[in-house]
Amino acid sequence: MWSLVFLCAQKVVSDHASTCRSLEFIPKELYPVLFKASFLGRKTLVLQDLVKRWPFPVLNLQKLLQSCKHCDCLPMKEKVSKLCVQAVILGVLAYLHQALEGEDRKRQLRVLNMVGLQDNNPEQGPETMSLWSQTVTLSKACVDMSRRYGEGANPSSKRRKGAHSTLAPGCPVYVEVHMDFFVNSASSTILREALQVNSSCPLRLRCRDFRAEELSIRSTLSLLELLSPTSVRQVDLRFNNLGLPGLNVLLPYLTKFTSLLSLKLPYNNVDVRRLSVEMEAGLQNFSTQIARLQSLKELNLGSSRLSGRLRQLLGGLQKPLESLELAFCYLLPSDLTFLCQSFHASSLKKLDLSGNNLCEPLLHPFQLLLKEASANLLHLDIMECKLMDSHLGALLPMLGRCTRLRYLGVFCNPISTRGLKTLLQSTLPLSELRLVIYPYPVDCYSESLPWPTSSSSFLDSSFDPQKLLRVHAELQQLLVQAQRTNVTWSTDMYQHKTLDYLSL
Ligand SMILES: *[C@@H]1O[C@H](CO)[C@@H](O)[C@H](O)[C@H]1NC(C)=O
Ligand SMILES: *[C@@H]1O[C@H](CO)[C@@H](O)[C@H](O)[C@H]1NC(C)=O
Ligand SMILES: *[C@@H]1O[C@H](CO)[C@@H](O)[C@H](O)[C@H]1NC(C)=O
Repeated sequence: MWSLVFLCAQKVVSDHASTCRSLEFIPKELYPVLFKASFLGRKTLVLQDLVKRWPFPVLNLQKLLQSCKHCDCLPMKEKVSKLCVQAVILGVLAYLHQALEGEDRKRQLRVLNMVGLQDNNPEQGPETMSLWSQTVTLSKACVDMSRRYGEGANPSSKRRKGAHSTLAPGCPVYVEVHMDFFVNSASSTILREALQVNSSCPLRLRCRDFRAEELSIRSTLSLLELLSPTSVRQVDLRFNNLGLPGLNVLLPYLTKFTSLLSLKLPYNNVDVRRLSVEMEAGLQNFSTQIARLQSLKELNLGSSRLSGRLRQLLGGLQKPLESLELAFCYLLPSDLTFLCQSFHASSLKKLDLSGNNLCEPLLHPFQLLLKEASANLLHLDIMECKLMDSHLGALLPMLGRCTRLRYLGVFCNPISTRGLKTLLQSTLPLSELRLVIYPYPVDCYSESLPWPTSSSSFLDSSFDPQKLLRVHAELQQLLVQAQRTNVTWSTDMYQHKTLDYLSL
């Protein structure tokens, strides 16, 4: 639904030339709705002008684009147009140029908040601006601005003159961009340059979540060193092949981040089984350093081989974790027993144990862990855990206690249609449940497979897609009967947004 105001706003922004002439006379209260109308209508020139004259100290994209009384469509849920994001950035640069050239205008804008524009959706098309290209674009802009106006800028430059007085320390002309960084080896140089000039530049980047992929230890380190200590909320270093020794080199640089809530270190080739004496010390070092991260609430060590070492790894933490991701970690019963007895268990909101074999002998400790975690658990991932109907049966009473559960991932487990129906029935009382990612039932395969089996057999040619459609329809029917159509049951884990701990 659109309000009359929104319809008028659409009309106003439809013609750039006339909007341009009238902007001066438009009351500032109308800027937000004009902004939204031009963003939705992809009126990039108008957008740029609006930003250039933005009459408030903060321009928060996520807030401006959320559903409001004038317009309840959600551009945030759809694809955020790359051209529009670029127009906003150009608008900020135009604003800065104008202010720095000393043009006589009231300067209001201080913060451009771009966080939360992406939702890690892998299916982003070329229409949207990826976090990676956002990082590059703003880094380049920052370096350009610094060359023109920063402290080291050429003093003979004509432009410099007008700007000079305003650029003394404590200079009043700047815009801080609040954003997330996503960097790899192709973009680390430009980001480093930007961070080096950052504090003396009129365009300042402020990092909330920092993610680096396929980046060497040295490059990662040189970037971490340049990030300001108070703003960083999450550090995500994945596919970097750092190993335990590499992580031990980086961790001391993380302790300065006083607001670090989340540390993600999946796919780093960590293997703590059968350690040499030297590596044993390295493991101790790692756990000592992790324990120094005072604000840590979320830890992801996915795809590390941690068999039997969880107590050593996490035993030093002073405060309970609320999110723990240990997918494909080769966990042993003793690891789950440790977790279950630790203070983490009852604090966990998100738990990912996918890819660990949760059948006997892990089933019992896992049951106990679920029981301990049931009071707070919102998100449970147990995909590819080799769970069959009988195991599921043993888990249902514990699952039933997880009354706050919103998400359950059981994809890629050898469960039958009957097992799924039982699961569905038993989770009906969980009133917060919104999404279940269920596996292709074993009886959708014409040949009997030697269960438990690896996930690759799910792609087997003996798979019967028609049967899967029928199963889906039957599950849907059960949901309708129970008036629980507000739970989505799906086999597509990419189509649905799962819970991010930090946005809970
Ligand atoms: C850049 O400088 C500003 C102001 O000094 C600061 O707030 C911000 O955190 C710095 N950015 C980074 C990424 O450290
Ligand atoms: C941990 O290892 C790093 C890098 O090897 C080293 O600099 C640091 O001193 C070690 N810390 C402890 C507590 O052993
Ligand atoms: C789903 O609907 C049921 C009633 O049919 C209600 O009790 C429950 O609170 C709803 N849950 C959510 C997450 O909306």
